[in-house]
Amino acid sequence: MVDGVGAAAADKASSASKRRIRISVPRYNRGVPMRIIFRLPFLVLICSFASSAASITGAWSASVAASDGHVTVTSFSFEQQGSELTGKVVTAGGERPIKQGKVDGEHVTFVIELGNPASPRIVPWEGTIAGNEIHLKSSPPGRPVMEMVAKPADPGVLLPPAKLPLPALKDVPWNHLSRTPPMGWNSWNKFQGKVDDKTVREIADAMVRTGMKDAGYHYVNIDDTWQGERDAQGKIHSNNKFPDMKALADYVHNKGLLIGIYSSPGPKTCAGYEGSFGHEEQDAQTYEDWTIDYLKYDWCSAGLIYSDEDMHAAYQKMGAALAKLARPVVFSLCQYGKADVWTWGPKVSGNLWRTTGDIQDNWNSMSDIGFDQGRLAPYAAPGHWNDPDMLEIGNGGMTDDEYRTHMSLWSMLAAPLLAGNDVRAMTLATMSILLNKEVIQIDQDKLGKEGARLRQEGEQEIWTRELTGGAVAVALFNRGEAPAAMTIKWADFMGGKRPTFIRDLWKHDFVKGTGETWTATVPKHGVVLLRMSR
Ligand code: GLA
Repeated sequence: MVDGVGAAAADKASSASKRRIRISVPRYNRGVPMRIIFRLPFLVLICSFASSAASITGAWSASVAASDGHVTVTSFSFEQQGSELTGKVVTAGGERPIKQGKVDGEHVTFVIELGNPASPRIVPWEGTIAGNEIHLKSSPPGRPVMEMVAKPADPGVLLPPAKLPLPALKDVPWNHLSRTPPMGWNSWNKFQGKVDDKTVREIADAMVRTGMKDAGYHYVNIDDTWQGERDAQGKIHSNNKFPDMKALADYVHNKGLLIGIYSSPGPKTCAGYEGSFGHEEQDAQTYEDWTIDYLKYDWCSAGLIYSDEDMHAAYQKMGAALAKLARPVVFSLCQYGKADVWTWGPKVSGNLWRTTGDIQDNWNSMSDIGFDQGRLAPYAAPGHWNDPDMLEIGNGGMTDDEYRTHMSLWSMLAAPLLAGNDVRAMTLATMSILLNKEVIQIDQDKLGKEGARLRQEGEQEIWTRELTGGAVAVALFNRGEAPAAMTIKWADFMGGKRPTFIRDLWKHDFVKGTGETWTATVPKHGVVLLRMSR
């Protein structure tokens, strides 16, 4: 699990900070006495800066404008004692404690930790105090450096918004969607905040042109950063990157595809855009007006307001709002696998629920997530799926063998297959992986039983998945740093008998071995995926 805000929110914050720090400036919860009490140190701070650069103790905030004009704020609570600096960094993704903080003259350094506390990703920050500003720079690993200027702030920016009442727990009936794991595309992994109407239309064209649609990838999902402002009636509008959401939905539908959107139960999304806090029913209605087919609902700033115990009710609130619509909407829960979501996800009509923090386009991230999933296999069933996060296949950070492992493992896990690459410009290798229909068939098997590890010998693992008609998928994974010879005994998989048909799903050929055992050489970080049947 995770520090402070929890594993999921950790990665939430990771996402927010890894691309751009964005945060809501809370406008709520500021009773008059509170205001006065909080503002006193603020005034003292301003005065002290007027005379000398003394302590930086106090609240600070930094605004960052995105290319779409959307301005968000990162807030800091600094506590300086001599050269020691403690406190926290607050973003829409949650709060991160400041660690290893130092103030040396004008120079400020600290780190925050993201992700799993057992192996956190360290984000170093450094800053220079200049008058009553601090010029800050954070260097998230593998992401562009982010620069911002923090100014003394009203400490109210650090106060969380007031909780809104949550409904009593009551099961929301299944929407009869996602009898097999959802397949499609999502904008986040490749485009983050750079997604816009034109890109989504071109992706929809490419989904048809490349055969992705025919292979079953039907949802075209817009992730974070589409949101504009609410109007006087509280209705959410898209921002200038998406001039007409209904027209875009029509375009996607006319291609024979479906369209998805993204929001949060909190006031702000992870990237600092408008969330659905207090507007759940109204937003659900807007999605229906736009003919939206899929909603990814991301915890983000809700973690600053609610506890993990509140998650079930908070997700139920949107699940119930969607259930009232005439149009069925796939409900994708994204709260990073906190609060054992697999035990209550189906009760809020969740069709899928994230089981982990954010995936990254590298072997360690993908394999750490994927190989840890088998324990959740009992919770997957038609209509309700564990979601180990979207695919990174084709984004360039892994080898083709690693991407084949990614695709094979996700299919063994009956995971949603949401491509996260630029499908307008796929290499033949990427296409051969994402469009491998024999592997997709494993993922989409109608029995809906998630696979799991059968055994592990050092870096080599054998996973199996039961399929319809008594067939079995067997994956030989080599997590090691060199090719490995892996031997299986046929009798281990089909009730003691040798299967009649054994298909190698990456070679697209039948396996013809006649003995009791079979040995394959599995590449470094690679896989051999077999389908056995009588
Ligand atoms: C979180 C989610 C990601 C993505 C971003 C968008 O980090 O886990 O999948 O939706 O938010 O801000």
